[in-house]
Amino acid sequence: MNACIRAVVRTALFHKLEISGILHGYDGMIKDEFIAMSTKSVSGIIQRGGTVLKTARSAEFMTKEGMKKAKENLEKHNVEGVIAIGGDGTFKGAQEFSTICQIPLVGCPGTIDNDLIGTDFTIGYDTAINTVVEAVDKIRDTAESHDRLFFVEVMGRDAGLIALRSGIGAGAEAILISEAKTDMEKLLRHLQEGRKDKASKIIIVSEQGGTGSVFKIAEEVKKALPFYDIRVSVLGHIQRGGNPTCMDRVNSSRIGFSAVEALIAGKKNVMIGIIDNKIAFTPFKNAVKHINELHPDLVRMMEVLAI
Ligand code: F6P
Repeated sequence: MNACIRAVVRTALFHKLEISGILHGYDGMIKDEFIAMSTKSVSGIIQRGGTVLKTARSAEFMTKEGMKKAKENLEKHNVEGVIAIGGDGTFKGAQEFSTICQIPLVGCPGTIDNDLIGTDFTIGYDTAINTVVEAVDKIRDTAESHDRLFFVEVMGRDAGLIALRSGIGAGAEAILISEAKTDMEKLLRHLQEGRKDKASKIIIVSEQGGTGSVFKIAEEVKKALPFYDIRVSVLGHIQRGGNPTCMDRVNSSRIGFSAVEALIAGKKNVMIGIIDNKIAFTPFKNAVKHINELHPDLVRMMEVLAI
């Protein structure tokens, strides 16, 4: 998100606009946490994960009263346009806000889950999948040396796209994703009938990978195939931080840059995305989570390559 913030600030200044940062997202809009931004205040942040503006989940913004206060503060600071970074919750809030506040607002897709309609890649996704691949490469060393089967849980509460791509990148033997109910029989068959000369086996499980906890799945496999030496590794929040990849920095910069130019061009209530390497504008009401999109070609290829 920092690369996006940097791009927004510098593009705005390039166009001779005044620019403020709002701390803690919508919460800061309500609590009047506005800070002046300069080209220097975004120096040295492109390589940092997270957001220097901090973030929060704002329950108050979901109320009429909260939105009224946010509107008053925007007006007090003579704000003429707002850029919000977030996921579909942020855009739902923005859509609702636009019914009471006429100040144009555009959004930038920020979620490691990559589960938004209107962009091929969300801010943070590439970094998250690279973090997973790096971690699994390390786990693979133990798996290989000890002839073990590892279940590795990755993030993606409602979407398995982190699991799917990182699993392919890490050469996983199987991937269990949130969108598909885990087919236990198929998994057991694969583990029983698969190649015997493979020392290590890695199974990537997205959070709630279909049947619930990764530990439950590992336990069921242990019961059915007791000869496997099984371990579970939960990667957790390391996937949400760290130095962003070059791809993430470039995409986030493009999105931030385009968000400012979109506001200048009079656009509002749209999410800025990148589709087929071109900037795309998706109305907030359509920029929702895409669940159940299993990328059948990727799933099929993964199965073929995992033999
Ligand atoms: O929705 C994005 C996400 O990163 C999910 O993949 C993950 O389940 C969740 O956020 C973690 O949220 P929290 O840090 O609040 O536990």
